[in-house]
Amino acid sequence: MTRIAVYPGSFDPPTKGHEDLVRRSLALADQLIVAVAVNVGKQPLFSVEERLEMLRTAAGDDPRISFQRFDGLLAEFAKTVGATIIVRGLRAVSDFEYEFQMALMNRQLHPSLETVFLVPAVDLTYLSSSLVREVARFGGDVRPMVHPMVAAALAQRYRS
Ligand code: PNS
Repeated sequence: MTRIAVYPGSFDPPTKGHEDLVRRSLALADQLIVAVAVNVGKQPLFSVEERLEMLRTAAGDDPRISFQRFDGLLAEFAKTVGATIIVRGLRAVSDFEYEFQMALMNRQLHPSLETVFLVPAVDLTYLSSSLVREVARFGGDVRPMVHPMVAAALAQRYRS
């Protein structure tokens, strides 16, 4: 049986923490779908297409990884693509409450879906997309935190 995992998120923009989790997820699943949420009630800096492109570039060429957008409920999307695992990253205790609630809600919606939490490499635990955006907005150097393509896109977005 092919194990399909979904790694969902806003990825606005993807960070090296996300890249790390994509790689780690492959230890759990035969196929990984990195799924960009279309409507999470946030005003994104990058369009879904831009985020998908960044994720594709950062992940490199691996036939086990695919990239999709999804609209609406994650549990429904997971069902549609035949996934049995949702991967989420846990960086700190502060992530836990929201993630725990979301995992239980997704189980309520789709009982055979398991949420698995992965911990990123310790030197990446401080990273979040929102902090990366803020650093870039004020002209800080984000190159240690994101793929070069993402750093270039951030520089361009905040220049214009
Ligand atoms: O990267 P983020 O912003 O933490 O990702 C959150 C995301 C997109 C995974 C979450 O908001 C989500 O699953 N949204 C889809 C709508 C949904 O299913 N909501 C109920 C979740 S319990």
